[in-house]
Amino acid sequence: MQAPNYDVDTDRFAKCIEVSKRVRWDIDKDVLRGREFDFSQKFLPDRISQINQLEFLSKDEKRFLSQVQGRTYANMFGFVERFVTAKILELTRDYWMGDQVALESLVRFVDEELKHQELFRRVEKMMADGIPEGYRFLPDPNEVAAAVLEKSTWAVMALTYEIELFTQAHYQESIEPDENLSELYKDLFLFHWKEETTHTMMDEIEWPRIDKQLTAAERDTAVDEVIELVGDVDGILQAQCGADVEYFTKLCSRSFSEEEIEQIKAITLKAYRWQYIFSGVEHPRFQKLLEELTTDNQRKRLNEALKTIR
Ligand SMILES: [Fe+2]
Ligand SMILES: [Fe+2]
Repeated sequence: MQAPNYDVDTDRFAKCIEVSKRVRWDIDKDVLRGREFDFSQKFLPDRISQINQLEFLSKDEKRFLSQVQGRTYANMFGFVERFVTAKILELTRDYWMGDQVALESLVRFVDEELKHQELFRRVEKMMADGIPEGYRFLPDPNEVAAAVLEKSTWAVMALTYEIELFTQAHYQESIEPDENLSELYKDLFLFHWKEETTHTMMDEIEWPRIDKQLTAAERDTAVDEVIELVGDVDGILQAQCGADVEYFTKLCSRSFSEEEIEQIKAITLKAYRWQYIFSGVEHPRFQKLLEELTTDNQRKRLNEALKTIR
C-alpha cells in the first residue's frame, strides 16, 4: 500500500477533531439521563411534519401523528447511518499510510455514527413502550446499505452530505425553537446535531477529493446514480408513509372518509419528501458544492428527476 498522492488539508481535519472532542456526549449521561418520552407533547414540530395542513384532525390526533412521524424520523437516522458508517470506514483506508490527523478525524466520524445508531435503536424501544402496538419500520438497514454501496463513492457521498445537512437544518430551524415538544425528543436531536456539524465539514473535504479522482465520463455516470438513489429513497418513503398512515388511522378512535385518508397520505408523503430529500438537496451548502462539482447539464438532469417527485 502506498501513501496517497493527493494534498491533505490537515488543518481542516484538525479542526474537526477539536470540535468533535468539545461536543462529544454520552448516551446515558448526557442524552437520556434516565428520562422517558413525554407522550402528552408532540415529537416533530409542525413545520417538519406539515400536519397543520390537515385541518380536519383534532388536537390529539395531530399530536399522535406528529409522534408517529417522529418515530419514523428517529428510525430513519439510525437506518441511513448504517451505510454512512460503512462508506466513511471505507474512506479511512486512503489515509492508513498517510495523514494520521485525517485518519483520526474520520475514525471519530465512524465512531460517532455507530453511537448514533445505538442511540436510535434504544430510543425506538423506548417509543415502542409508550405507543400502542402495530407500528412498523419497513426498510432493512443492512439490505439498503448493501444496495447503496453498490453505487460509486461520489454518488454515496452526495447522498450522505445532503442527509447530514438537513439533520442540522431541521434542528436549528424547527426543533430548537419549538417549545411544545417532548423534552427528551428535542434533546435527542440537539445532541445529534452537535456531532453532525463536523460530519458535514468532513463531507466537504471528502466528496471533492473523490471527485478529483474521476474522469468526466465517470462523474456523469455518478450523477445518474444520484438520480437512482433519490428514486430509491422515494420508494422507501412511499412505503413507509403507507405503513405510518395505516397505523395512525387504525389507532384513532374514529373512522375517516376515504378522501380524508388520501389527504393524510398525500400530506405525510409531501412531508417525508421534504424531510429526507428536498430540505437536503435544496440546502444552500449542498447547492454550492454541487455547482462546483457538476456541469449545468448534469444539474439540469438532477432537477428534472426531482421535479417528478415534487
Ligand atoms: Fe448521525
Ligand atoms: Fe453524521
